[in-house]
Amino acid sequence: MKTRVTQMLGIEHPIVQGGMQWVGRAQLAAAVSNAGGLGILTALTQASPEDLCKEISRCRTMTDKPFAVNLTILPTIKPVPYGEYVDAIVESGVRIVETAGRNPEPWLPAFKKAGITVIHKCTSIRHALKAEAIGCDMVSVDGFECAGHPGEDDVTNLILLPLAARRLKIPFLASGGFADGRGLAAALAMGADGINMGTRFMVTEEAPIHHSVKQAMVEASELDTTLIFRSLRNTSRVFSNSVAKQVVAIEAQAGETQFDDIAPLVKGVRGRELFETGDLEHGVWSAGMVIGLIDDIPSCQTLLTRMVAEAQTIISERLQGLLADS
Ligand SMILES: Cc1cc2nc3c(=O)[nH]c(=O)nc-3n(C[C@H](O)[C@H](O)[C@H](O)COP(=O)(O)O)c2cc1C
Repeated sequence: MKTRVTQMLGIEHPIVQGGMQWVGRAQLAAAVSNAGGLGILTALTQASPEDLCKEISRCRTMTDKPFAVNLTILPTIKPVPYGEYVDAIVESGVRIVETAGRNPEPWLPAFKKAGITVIHKCTSIRHALKAEAIGCDMVSVDGFECAGHPGEDDVTNLILLPLAARRLKIPFLASGGFADGRGLAAALAMGADGINMGTRFMVTEEAPIHHSVKQAMVEASELDTTLIFRSLRNTSRVFSNSVAKQVVAIEAQAGETQFDDIAPLVKGVRGRELFETGDLEHGVWSAGMVIGLIDDIPSCQTLLTRMVAEAQTIISERLQGLLADS
C-alpha cells in the first residue's frame, strides 16, 4: 500500500505506533519498524535527555529502518526540561518526531532547522488546522475512542476523519480505535493516509510490559475503559481497574476536585511499576476502547502482515465486489 504517509516516512505499511509512556522503548519501536511500520520511542519514558540519546542509539542497533521519537507536552507532576529533550532528539539525528499534548510551536524551529518531519497528534479539527498552519508536516487525528488523552470534545473518528479529509491539505493518520485490517481499510476509505495505534501495540510479544497486563487486555471488552481527570479538563482514557474507579469516585464528589486529592493514586511511577510487576491494581494505565477487538498477543510482524493482508482483501474483494456487475 502506497500512501502519502508511507512515502513521506519511508515505510512499507501505513501503520504507525503512537508514543506510549513506559511502553515506547527500543525493543517495541524497533519491532514495529522492522515489521514495516513506524516505531516510536517515547522521550519522557527516559529519565533524562542523556538517557534518551542512549535509547535512540540502542534502537539503532536493533533496526536500520526509520523510527521516530514522541515528545508529549502535557501537565506533569514533575517539571520537564523540554528544551533539553528537543536538543537530544536533534543531536541524535532522529528524522521523524511525533509531538502531542500542547501546541508544539515553540519547538518547531529547532526541528525544522534539522530537517525533521513533524507529526502532531491532536484531538480536534481546529487543532489539526492549527498544526498545519504552524508548519507541521502531518497530523495524527485522535478520536474519542483513543487511549490516553482524547481531549474534551468527545467527537469520535467517524466524524473527525472525514472532516480532516475535507479540511486538511497535509497528510493525516487516523488514531484511536484501530486494531485490525477492517479498521485500516475504513481509515483509508475515510481519507486518512494511514493509521496510528497505541493499545494494539501494547498487546504484542515485543511490548516491554508484564504478560499479565497484556492478558488482562485480551480478556477485557470494549466496556472496560473509563475516563479520569474529566473534572480537571485533562481527560484520560484508562483501563477500568479499582484504582481508576476510585479516581472517578473522588472526582464525582461535591465541590471542585483538586489534583492533590488524586495525585497519590495516579503517579506515573505507579503505572511504571504496574507494567513491571503485573500487579493490575497498583496504579492506572492508558487503554483504548479497542481492547474489545484484541484477542491475542502476536509479534509485531505477525500483526502487521495480518492487518495489511486483511485490508487488501477487503479493498480488492469485498469493496471491489460491491461495484462488480452482477
Ligand atoms: C499505555 C499507553 C501510553 C500512552 N502514552 C502516550 C504518551 O506518552 N504520549 C502520547 O502522545 N500518547 C500516548 N498514548 C496514546 C497513543 O500514542 C495513541 O495516540 C493512542 O493509543 C491511540 O488510540 P488506540 O489506543 O485506540 O490505538 C498512550 C497510549 C497507551 C495505550
